[in-house]
Amino acid sequence: MEHPSPVGASPWQISTLGAARLDSPLAPLIEARERSENYVDESDLVLVDDVLSTASERGVPVEQLPGLEPGGPRRKIFFDPSKLRVGIVTCGGLCPGLNNVVRGLVLELWHQYGVRRVHGFRNGYEGFVASYGHEVVDLTPESVRGIDEQGGTVLGTSRGQQDPEDVVDCLERLGIGVLFVVGGDGSMRGALGIAGVVAQRGLKISVVGVPKTIDNDIPFIDHSFGFQTAFARAAETIRSVVVEARSTPHGVGLVKLMGRHSGFIASYAALARNDADYVLVPEVPFGLEDDDGREGLLSLVQRRVAERGNAVVVVAEGAGQDLVPGDGVDASGNAVLGDVGRYLRRRLLDSFAAAGRPVNLRYVDPSYAIRSVPANGYDAVYCLRLAHAAVHAAMAGRTAMVVGRWHGRFVHVPIELAISRRNVVDPHGDLWLSVLEATGQPTRVG
Ligand code: F6P
Repeated sequence: MEHPSPVGASPWQISTLGAARLDSPLAPLIEARERSENYVDESDLVLVDDVLSTASERGVPVEQLPGLEPGGPRRKIFFDPSKLRVGIVTCGGLCPGLNNVVRGLVLELWHQYGVRRVHGFRNGYEGFVASYGHEVVDLTPESVRGIDEQGGTVLGTSRGQQDPEDVVDCLERLGIGVLFVVGGDGSMRGALGIAGVVAQRGLKISVVGVPKTIDNDIPFIDHSFGFQTAFARAAETIRSVVVEARSTPHGVGLVKLMGRHSGFIASYAALARNDADYVLVPEVPFGLEDDDGREGLLSLVQRRVAERGNAVVVVAEGAGQDLVPGDGVDASGNAVLGDVGRYLRRRLLDSFAAAGRPVNLRYVDPSYAIRSVPANGYDAVYCLRLAHAAVHAAMAGRTAMVVGRWHGRFVHVPIELAISRRNVVDPHGDLWLSVLEATGQPTRVG
């Protein structure tokens, strides 16, 4: 079995700016806690493996098993809150909960640590570069009041990197000691570059990420914030399409959802409704035509309509890219995908026409509608707790890391690990099995 990293090696190690010597204002809160199965002390580790076979295959004593540093407040902190200036930036595509994270960071810094100088950089990494002319905004409990009720990000966002030397010049000019980057894998690569320049210059600036993506494709994180809101919103679209398909003769519903390389939104949204007949994700190739005795998607949908009167197909945008040519890369370096939704729509209509069968096909692509909504209750809690963990980590002088939750516990993950690979739907895993069970679709389509 392949392990994510060599045993006992340093990839799990979190970088620090130096010894934390100041008493934390949260120390009394920590001291009042009693050891329990829900309390992981700062001296402990959260094991990477949660399956006996995987752990034992590492062939090392239990205390040498790889572990992630737990999140949470430390007894000692590195930064003096009264002298500290903090920056926050949101980067990349939208995701439900961005404003919750921004507000959570500001309130925790302000109320728990007494940090009074918190600044928002506008429009992603552009906000650090003078030539763009974006003003830096002051963030206070008053200025962030109620922002969590809005979708999007009050700081604005953009795709693409800026020269990390320029970013660090800006941080130095403003005397920033902690930078929080709320962004996806591209933005985290940028954050790592910034942390690298900070280290080269011998500066004491902490760079801490709060990983963001509705695609849920960041490794060593149970799931990313906003994901639950996004798939719940996507499930509403599936419901509408199911209603349409069932209310018209020969109804076919086709829904395209986001998910560039990972089909988590498509899988979870389909499971949330338990009404889809076929779910197509990037991780599981499919064919349109019958092949070697296996039915392709076109025959399957026709047969389903003939037998049951309607059919619903959910497709992730990154599925079937062998069928539709993409075109270059975007500003974040992501491949611009071919439009599999429109392609399937045309191929399905053509196939029904060629077979002389009637069809009423409704195609819906709610992509941007699902990521621009405010966080739901679950994600609001998750965003807040991630923000708390990020503040604790930064105040303790941790750097070049992201916060996340692994096996249900808050942890620190080195940025390098968080961008080392992609979290994908495992075709052999339990999630995909649930999709196969719920849809009844064959393990191999076409
Ligand atoms: O990376 C997250 C994501 O939501 C993907 O699912 C999607 O492909 C992409 O962003 C689209 O974003 P934009 O159109 O803003 O580049």
